[in-house]
Amino acid sequence: MSYQIAIDGPAGAGKSTIAKKVAKSKGYIYVDTGAMYRAMAYFLLKEGVDPTDTSAIEEKCQEADITICYENGEQVVLLNGENVNAYLRREEVGNMASHHSSANPKVRERLTALQKELARTNDVVMDGRDIGTCVLPGADVKVYLTASTRVRARRRFDELQEKGVSCDIRQIEEDIASRDEEDMNRPIAPLKQAEDAVLIDSSEMSIEEVVKAILDLC
Ligand code: DC
Repeated sequence: MSYQIAIDGPAGAGKSTIAKKVAKSKGYIYVDTGAMYRAMAYFLLKEGVDPTDTSAIEEKCQEADITICYENGEQVVLLNGENVNAYLRREEVGNMASHHSSANPKVRERLTALQKELARTNDVVMDGRDIGTCVLPGADVKVYLTASTRVRARRRFDELQEKGVSCDIRQIEEDIASRDEEDMNRPIAPLKQAEDAVLIDSSEMSIEEVVKAILDLC
């Protein structure tokens, strides 16, 4: 049996940083499911699908073969065989993923099946929004990782400042709040804490403290 660690939570809570470190320390693979939703969104944009046309999304998503492989321990997302990592963090891709593709049941069905298969055949640390509730309901460890909107906005702001991107912290906070609203209130697989998940609020914690808290649960 594979060992499964599920980490869910809102955007900007530090899931991927933490999940990568936990995976490295345990020698498990890290599966970033958000990247898979982003790859689907990138595909739909590239194909010129109208974001508001649900049936076009349902039809077109069947043509996207999204898989994951690992190069030097780094996750590489393959879209119909092509490495698309470079496109996934683009703003328009994130918006398409959040507002349209991740809300579509056919897209979720397709990606969930792939995620389950990855976790069946590998020990995983998987992060996302619905891992503990839908994808891996029987996971060995479930964590719901969150932080206040203010702290998440500050972290994002610092990250962008470091890259030399000018930005407005209030705008970032508003965007985070609206994405939370969207993720938590969609009718299918909304972001929510699984009943048996351990809540970790990282607002006042360092990365190392959160990693240790999760390793202690394993
Ligand atoms: O974690 P992220 O920002 O890379 O995720 C991109 C979008 O995909 C985000 O709007 C939420 C959505 N998502 C989802 O619906 N289910 C998941 N398991 C992971 C991400």
